[in-house]
Amino acid sequence: MKSIQCLVLALLPAALAAPAPAPVQAVAAPHPMITARASLTDRTPTRVQERDIISSIAGLGSYLSSVLGTYPSYVASGVPNFFQDFPTGTAVESSLGISDSDLAATPTQVLNIPGYANWTEQGWNLRFHGNVFKQPNISESKLDDLANGFLIGTSIQQLPPAEQTQARNLTAEIYVVQQGGVNVTMNIEPASSQVSDGTSSGSGAITSPGGAQNITLVGETTPEGDFDQFLPLKNVSGAGGYLLPGNDTTTIQRVNVYAQGTDTGNATSYLVPEAGLTIVSDIDDILRITRIYQPADGLLNSFAKAYVPWMNMPDIYANWSKSIPDFHFHYLTTTPEQVTRNYMDFIYKTYPGGSFDTRPLNFSDVSETLSVRKFLLEKIFQSYPKRKFILIADTSNSDVMRDYPAMATEFPGQVQCIFLRNTSATDSGDKFPYDTSGFQNLSQSMYMFFVVPDDLTNLDILNGQCYNATIKQNVTFSEQGLPFGLSKKSAAPRVNAGWNGLVVVGLVMVLGSCLGLL
Ligand SMILES: *[C@@H]1O[C@H](CO)[C@@H](O)[C@H](O)[C@H]1NC(C)=O
Ligand SMILES: *[C@@H]1O[C@H](CO)[C@@H](O)[C@H](O)[C@H]1NC(C)=O
Ligand SMILES: *[C@@H]1O[C@H](CO)[C@@H](O)[C@H](O)[C@H]1NC(C)=O
Ligand SMILES: *[C@@H]1O[C@H](CO)[C@@H](O)[C@H](O)[C@H]1NC(C)=O
Ligand SMILES: *[C@@H]1O[C@H](CO)[C@@H](O)[C@H](O)[C@H]1NC(C)=O
Ligand SMILES: *[C@@H]1O[C@H](CO)[C@@H](O)[C@H](O)[C@H]1NC(C)=O
Ligand SMILES: *[C@@H]1O[C@H](CO)[C@@H](O)[C@H](O)[C@H]1NC(C)=O
Ligand SMILES: *[C@@H]1O[C@H](CO)[C@@H](O)[C@H](O)[C@H]1NC(C)=O
Ligand SMILES: *[C@@H]1O[C@H](CO)[C@@H](O)[C@H](O)[C@H]1NC(C)=O
Ligand SMILES: *[C@@H]1O[C@H](CO)[C@@H](O)[C@H](O)[C@H]1NC(C)=O
Ligand SMILES: *[C@@H]1O[C@H](CO)[C@@H](O)[C@H](O)[C@H]1NC(C)=O
Ligand SMILES: *[C@@H]1O[C@H](CO)[C@@H](O)[C@H](O)[C@H]1NC(C)=O
Repeated sequence: MKSIQCLVLALLPAALAAPAPAPVQAVAAPHPMITARASLTDRTPTRVQERDIISSIAGLGSYLSSVLGTYPSYVASGVPNFFQDFPTGTAVESSLGISDSDLAATPTQVLNIPGYANWTEQGWNLRFHGNVFKQPNISESKLDDLANGFLIGTSIQQLPPAEQTQARNLTAEIYVVQQGGVNVTMNIEPASSQVSDGTSSGSGAITSPGGAQNITLVGETTPEGDFDQFLPLKNVSGAGGYLLPGNDTTTIQRVNVYAQGTDTGNATSYLVPEAGLTIVSDIDDILRITRIYQPADGLLNSFAKAYVPWMNMPDIYANWSKSIPDFHFHYLTTTPEQVTRNYMDFIYKTYPGGSFDTRPLNFSDVSETLSVRKFLLEKIFQSYPKRKFILIADTSNSDVMRDYPAMATEFPGQVQCIFLRNTSATDSGDKFPYDTSGFQNLSQSMYMFFVVPDDLTNLDILNGQCYNATIKQNVTFSEQGLPFGLSKKSAAPRVNAGWNGLVVVGLVMVLGSCLGLL
């Protein structure tokens, strides 16, 4: 065992330099829906399972080799690699052996991702983004074969029936054929009358009073089938009058956006005024239990199991939605666009309604995947130079640790609070370090590392109370969270950015093993 791990040390640089494993493919996701209201019903908190320390240490060796063998890019990035390198376009067609004529007979679908509009001199400027695709008819046995390509250490035949269904669903969503070069037209209507009772849709969002209009997007979809553009809404009157100008209201107005020619492209988008408070929320390991830092669990939690909220986080969001007037919820995750529908489906059943961002298909390799969060954060910050932002995620994503604090510098005065769940504090299975150096120049009053959702209770975030002084922070402004209580200084030499996490963990684990700790 020791010699194997010492050997791993020698092989590490080569493993890191090797290209990512062969892609599994995928394309867009299934049906968008009109975003449902969040429910406020009580939920039983789900506790994170603490692992017995012995089994977790004993598991390190196989963990490392599974990581090195299968998930190198994901480990460093906090982006699940099993959600990386999905097949697109012709790769899907050829792996399914489907002909162009078979495909031509299947209906075109549109993934219409709930967008946001900002107020400009030309009026409301609405972001339309999503994907056009076709869903091939794949037999169940073929789907099972494809699903087994995603599963590690198990097979679809070994899963309980509900998980089999979910794994087939995800696989079917990944094996879609995107449609490039297509024109997209959207019908826009005031969102269906929904009483604004302050419990849903980003608090007091109201049905927009304007009239219906149709907008054709500029240009055709990209080769990956994507579209992403801001277009001005016309000021047309409807039964309720006109849209309220965004510099003369604090209220968020809701509009429904329907892709023409399909009933699969329905979404609710949000006209968000110039001034106010927006929360940008990550999803994995903050709103749901994913455990991306535990590859086997992360894979099953993403591919086969029903999504489960993380403890009583829904209560925290429900309180914010209810108590903070005109609070704009924006869900920003780097999970690939292909699984957007499953994420939306979970979020809108569990958390307040809001706009959404996932990883567009043209961000595919590891460095692009690591840059997408910043790209999407900048897009929303640039859209609202007068709004303040609450940023929330967990420590297991290296891009979050870098990009969230960077927003405070890049957009001075716009970041109100940064909240980071420390996943290694509650989950001994999280062996990956996180880098807190980005927080060095930020005031403690604007950020908090926390452990459980209750740490966020009774904070007056609207008025800038972001720090619960009873929560011990332990921030060293360097690499943290290494196993064996070692800190970076004592454990390992500094390695270049990006691969840091993996290299440091690898060195520490091998060191531990060679020293007889394992
Ligand atoms: C997969 O499940 C989602 C969420 O329940 C659903 O919207 C979608 O239609 C399903 N997709 C397929 C391809 O069955
Ligand atoms: C709101 O914006 C419009 C368009 O830029 C401008 O004409 C109008 O004067 C502004 N109103 C207020 C109250 O600032
Ligand atoms: C899908 O293909 C199966 C045979 O493989 C066929 O029975 C079924 O009707 C097809 N479904 C659609 C929607 O075309
Ligand atoms: C898309 O619309 C443009 C402008 O109307 C047109 O020139 C082009 O042929 C259309 N493309 C397709 C694939 O229909
Ligand atoms: C929008 O297009 C639909 C056809 O999809 C049409 O029925 C409707 O009248 C159009 N609405 C407006 C306001 O032009
Ligand atoms: C639309 O025009 C009406 C009438 O001129 C005006 O009252 C309203 O503020 C305008 N709304 C927007 C969003 O420009
Ligand atoms: C989308 O909206 C249209 C028009 O309201 C409706 O007929 C259709 O059923 C909706 N589709 C879904 C999947 O909800
Ligand atoms: C992806 O496309 C968008 C436009 O939709 C562009 O702004 C962005 O730079 C592209 N990203 C990459 C990595 O190609
Ligand atoms: C509106 O959003 C767009 C896209 O992010 C941005 O380029 C523009 O500057 C924003 N306009 C205003 C007035 O904030
Ligand atoms: C800080 O360290 C203490 C003692 O190890 C631990 O109980 C606490 O959960 C840590 N706090 C955070 C935010 O990780
Ligand atoms: C701080 O955290 C504790 C422990 O989770 C919680 O009981 C308390 O309500 C939180 N809020 C404040 C403002 O102390
Ligand atoms: C609910 O949110 C409000 C606004 O941020 C805050 O003042 C209040 O303390 C919160 N209540 C609980 C129980 O967390």
